[in-house]
Amino acid sequence: MAWDKRLNVLLIGGGMISQEVVIPTLLQERLRGVVGDLHVSALNSAIIKQCQDIFGTDAFYGYPDPAQYAEDDNQPTLYREAMAKLGPHGVVVVATPDHLHTDMTLEAIRAGYDVIVMKPLCLKVNEAHEVIKAADEKKRYVATDYHKRMDRAVRLARYRVRRGDLGEMLHGHAWIEEPKYMPLKYFRLWAHKSSPFEYIGVHYVDAWYFITGLTPKRVAAFGQKKFLPSTGSDAYDAVQAVIEWNDGSVLWIQTSWVCSEKNSAMTNQGLQISGTKGEYWADHKFRNLHILTDDDGFQQINPNFFRQYDSWEIEGGVEQVGYGFESISRWLRDIQTLNMETEGMSEQEALAHREKRLKEWEAGQRPLPRQALIGVAVNEAVRLSLANDSKYVVFDEEFKPKLA
Ligand SMILES: NC(=O)c1ccc[n+]([C@@H]2O[C@H](COP(=O)([O-])OP(=O)(O)OC[C@H]3O[C@@H](n4cnc5c(N)ncnc54)[C@H](O)[C@@H]3O)[C@@H](O)[C@H]2O)c1
Repeated sequence: MAWDKRLNVLLIGGGMISQEVVIPTLLQERLRGVVGDLHVSALNSAIIKQCQDIFGTDAFYGYPDPAQYAEDDNQPTLYREAMAKLGPHGVVVVATPDHLHTDMTLEAIRAGYDVIVMKPLCLKVNEAHEVIKAADEKKRYVATDYHKRMDRAVRLARYRVRRGDLGEMLHGHAWIEEPKYMPLKYFRLWAHKSSPFEYIGVHYVDAWYFITGLTPKRVAAFGQKKFLPSTGSDAYDAVQAVIEWNDGSVLWIQTSWVCSEKNSAMTNQGLQISGTKGEYWADHKFRNLHILTDDDGFQQINPNFFRQYDSWEIEGGVEQVGYGFESISRWLRDIQTLNMETEGMSEQEALAHREKRLKEWEAGQRPLPRQALIGVAVNEAVRLSLANDSKYVVFDEEFKPKLA
């Protein structure tokens, strides 16, 4: 039977980002003919039940199935059962905690699947090199969901910087800060193993690299532990890093996850860039749109990220729009393209075609593994600097960090 051009997808995760962004995106892509079967695997059936309550029991195949498994019966390897069912046009989406990304991504590549992984690709540069090697060997597409690459405010910066309108880079300042409930409620179990820099600051590391094409040369990081220790947590409240790039320009990134819970939006964020011929300045939080209601008070809305609108496709339906959506749908469509272009080819021809396409894409704008490596390297450097009294960290030719 001819292939219907739909990709069978396994989402490993089911948590916050899966429920808010990934599953709604995959379901919309199914409506549009890109996704076929959808399998969702989580650690236990309680999470699958939550997803079923939101999206309906028929929206996907769940692992572990709440009808068969108790809600606290953890099944950390059951995703393999689902992976085995994907067939020749399969995609694995990895949305598990950061420390699980590498093994699940490698497993998916080795089983012959293309992969979309939530940021960061990995925790360590060595692991990112393993992913690069495996993806090269199997000619698989492995995209990291750096969604800021799809934000028009960031794309505009890239377009103008790459055309030389701002001249040579001098310095930049990025800020990204979230409320206290993130480390206190959502990430209580692992906040002390991570930091606001690794969790959200890395978006602006990738954005600067995406905009300028520059690579990091030297990093120093600073951190504060004042509020969270008073709640019994050993996590950083805030982390800042200064990154010197290979042209001598410098980016200062400030991050926090102890902002007021009364903030008018979830995330304070923005970017300023100064060059020898001009500047870019963007508030990525306040996009000049607010809503004020009796129920929710004053809210500043970023209409670009991931929002629900009345659908143009289904009267009375809802459409997901924004860079959160595009940053998954674009990679799915790339994978669909790869599959369509190689359909009917011999295995050898298909691999040669994939290799050529992947090289072209990786030399361009897509966050394939050699590009995703930059965020991983700076994250690891920040950790090293923090652990060594804010000393400078430099990189070797493979971007492995070491104390200067
Ligand atoms: N792109 C973004 O802006 C963005 C935003 C938030 C989170 N993230 C990233 O997405 C990932 C997930 O974040 P989250 O907020 O959804 O976390 P979460 O803790 O809410 O969810 C993680 C999920 O992984 C599942 N899981 C854990 N081990 C598993 C296993 N062995 N098999 C199957 N499922 C397993 C758990 O059931 C849980 O539902 C993280 O890497 C995070 O950094 C990205």
